[in-house]
This record gives sequence, C-alpha cells and structure tokens, in this order.
Amino acid sequence: MGLRGADLSMTGKPEALRNLLVLLSQKVVGQPAAMKSIVPYIQMYMADLSPAGRPVGVFLLLGPTGTGKTKTVEAIADVLHGSEKKVLKVDCGGYQMEHEVAKLIGSPPGYLGHRETQPVLTQARLDAVTSEYCGLSLVLFDEIEKAAPSLTQLLLGIMDKATLQLGDGNTVNFENALLFFTSNLGAREMMKETSESFGFRAGVSRERGDVTTRLENIALNAVKKKFAPEFVNRIDAVITYLPLETESLSQILDQHITELQSHVNTRLGARCFSIEVTPESREFLLRKGTSAEFGARELKRTIHRHLTQPLAALVAGGQVDAGARVNVELDADGERLSLRVVSGEEVPIPVHPSVLIVDDNRDLLNFLKSAMIHAQWDVETAESLHAARDLFESKKFNAVVLDYMLPDGTGVELALEFHARNHALRQVVMCGVPLPPGEQEMCKELKFSVLQKPFLPTTLLNLLRSHLSSPTRAVQRAAK
Ligand SMILES: Nc1ncnc2c1ncn2[C@@H]1O[C@H](COP(=O)(O)OP(=O)(O)OP(=O)(O)O)[C@@H](O)[C@H]1O
Ligand SMILES: [Mg+2]
Repeated sequence: MGLRGADLSMTGKPEALRNLLVLLSQKVVGQPAAMKSIVPYIQMYMADLSPAGRPVGVFLLLGPTGTGKTKTVEAIADVLHGSEKKVLKVDCGGYQMEHEVAKLIGSPPGYLGHRETQPVLTQARLDAVTSEYCGLSLVLFDEIEKAAPSLTQLLLGIMDKATLQLGDGNTVNFENALLFFTSNLGAREMMKETSESFGFRAGVSRERGDVTTRLENIALNAVKKKFAPEFVNRIDAVITYLPLETESLSQILDQHITELQSHVNTRLGARCFSIEVTPESREFLLRKGTSAEFGARELKRTIHRHLTQPLAALVAGGQVDAGARVNVELDADGERLSLRVVSGEEVPIPVHPSVLIVDDNRDLLNFLKSAMIHAQWDVETAESLHAARDLFESKKFNAVVLDYMLPDGTGVELALEFHARNHALRQVVMCGVPLPPGEQEMCKELKFSVLQKPFLPTTLLNLLRSHLSSPTRAVQRAAK
C-alpha cells in the first residue's frame, strides 16, 4: 500500500509530501546530504514503486552526539504521521546479551513463562506507528553497535526478506517499513578530525568538502570493523552526520524559541503574549546550550532552565498581561537572563482573526489556507491583485499575506495600496528570492514583514500572532 492521503501534521493535504525534502530540511538543520539520501526511498514508497519482499529502506546513521540522527526519524514521523512519537524505537543497549534478544521476538510455546513475555517487534506494534495518512512504519534501532550478535543476525533476516518469525510462530511483515540504525561508531575519531577544521572553530568552511569525505571514511571503516560484510552490504545508505556549524546551531535555537512562542499561543489563546529574545540573550543560550562534545543536545534543557521556567513563574504569578511583550535580556554580569514585561493594552486578541492570502500558486495557497484555518483564523484567498482588491473592498482584515510575484503586479505594490487605506494593517510579503533593494527598504519603512520561502506555516502564524498581540495592537481595532 502506498500513499494514503499523506499529511503534514496540520493540513491533511498531499501537497505537504511533495515538499518533503524542504519540510524535513527545515526540521533537521544543517544535514542536507542525510535528507537527500532518505527522501527518495519515501517517494518510492509513495509512488508504490518500492520493491516487494524487502523493507522500503534501510539506513545506518552515523556521527557525533546531538547532530540530528534521532531527530531525523522523529521529523519524518511528524511529516508523515503528524506526530514525532510515531516511531517504533528499539534501544539496542537493552539487548546486549544473547538471552535478552528473545524479548524482541518472544519465546516459543513450551518455554516457561512464554505467555508473560510480550515480544517488542509485533505486527500490531508496527501498525501502531502508521497513521490514517500514511501506512509507512518507521523503526529505529538506537545504538546498534551495542546489540548482541544474534540481534544483528535477526536483523539480517528482516533486511533480506522483510519478515520476522516470532517465538509463537507468527510472522511480522516489514515491507511497509523504513529501518534506521544509529550508531556513534567512529564518532570520537571524527571529533578529533573536526575539532581543528570547522564547527566551533568556524571560518574554514572551504575545507568542509574534504573534511566530509574524511569523516565518511572514518565512519565507514569503523562500521566495517564492527559488522560483518553481509550486514553492511544490506544497508541501502550509510549516512554520516556532520558536526553542526555555528549557523545551524543558531537556527536550531530559533526553532526552539518559535516552538516556545507557538506553545504559549496555543495554550493561552486570547491571553497569549509575545516573547522577544535579544541577540545577546541568544548568544548566551547558544554558549550555554551547545558544544562540540554534545552538539545541540543540551540546548532544549538550557532554554528550559533559563527561559521557560522563569517565564512560567511570571505567568503563574499573574505578572504577564494578555498582549504584553516579554523581553528576554542578558544581565550585566553576562551569566543570567532576566525577563522584562512590557505591558500591552487591554484589548483582547480576536479569537478568529481574519487574513487575506494572495498567491497564484494554488498548491501553496491551499496549504497555507488549511494551516491557518486549523489555527482558528478566518481565511480568504485570492490569486491575483485584481481578485485581492475586490475582497479587500468587501471585508475588513486583521492581516494580509502576499506573494511578491503575482500575475498582474507585485505583492509590494498591492501592500502599498492596502497600507494607504489602512495604516494599521498587518502585512507580510512572501518571496522566493530576495526583494530588490528599493522594495526591501520600503517594506522595512512601512513595517511589512518579508518572509523568505521556504518557510513553515508555524513561522508565518507566529509572525502574525506576535504582531496582533504586540503593544501597538492598532490592527484589530482598525479591523473592528
Ligand atoms: N540537525 C539538527 N536539527 C535540528 N535539531 C537538532 C539537530 N541536531 C540536534 N538537534 C536538537 O538536539 C536534540 C538531540 O539531537 P538528536 O537526538 O537527533 O541527537 P543524535 O544525533 O541522535 O545524538 P546521539 O548520538 O547522542 O543519539 C534534538 O532533539 C534537537 O532538539
Ligand atoms: Mg540519537
């Protein structure tokens, strides 16, 4: 079974899958080679072209800690099934001894206590990580190098024939599964190689190509030393994750902050507020939360400790009004963040704010439309300046989102027209390439946001929401 109306968590639209590579690359930052290796296998499955009698794809993910190996599998689950949790995870550290491997498949009848042992790899468990959108199961074997030899033997069978025989005689079919093995094999040696080359001692990026090849060789040699050739030969792609560069780490920080804002918006609804993190505070979080040793692994915890927890204390203490702005600033000693609340007006954010989206790309238009409807917005769409003008005449909007290139003019041109009619209107211009300098300047001056494609719907939603809830919320008053 191939694609069954696949989905991006909030849209339920197949368009989301056409943009699979873009969506995954936004979620897993700075590892383009990894995404490019995996995506074709998912597309083969979607096109019903995966060969029968074997798993859809088998990948070995290598590289240092905190570089996105597990995140990759979670991101695919999120895009395909709408939840990062739709992954069957097997922690191979728990199957280091031969007798423990029986826990995976259950013991045969006749063995003492065989009824009490529930196998881990059952058909029901594989099916439980599919969704109404997509029938592909993601199975992750973490730290594969720790597995007992009989587990690798068992995996050979799965990789070969896509079936696994359980202790009770039942078989499990892996024909609709992607298998991921992760390992830190060679990671220490890779660290040594990279510590002088890039990442935390940035600035030598011209060497990145060479270093990548050297790292891949280190990883592959370590794998060949550890696993038998018949195991390595059955893997479709061995993918080496590279240490994250400073820019990628900074992008991951942005992801976390956007997630936090989005959480505040959905949890608090009309009582939400906006969070503004100063560049110095970002530097601080990056300094504390990232390292050559652990990559981005500690970033979430750092944000939690220095930002989320103090923020929660403020909210619980009733110190943040609806529509306020919370400025996150670095203390003078450079060792702590402090939160400063800038009060908003007492105007509640509309429960269903209205937006006009203008784009001649119908796929993108529908994709954004369903994402915004899902987020409780009242949405109108137009595919040209002409149609947009008509709608603007007939209805008041809180916000307008415009593509730059439209069939009968530019988005900036239209934004200017709308601005002349309503100075307080919130406007966002989307563009595929940077705007010409003159128009960039104009957008800056008139406070039109410019959103470079590709972007996630949540980025747009957060941008609009944060402005609706900003202290100058003239927007919705004008729309009333
Ligand atoms: N490339 C990345 N893109 C986005 N987030 C990342 C990336 N790398 C790491 N992170 C962040 O760091 C956390 C830890 O990353 P992840 O679990 O993918 O590490 P890993 O490579 O599997 O490491 P390990 O070898 O220790 O299992 C993720 O949950 C995510 O928040
Ligand atoms: Mg991992």
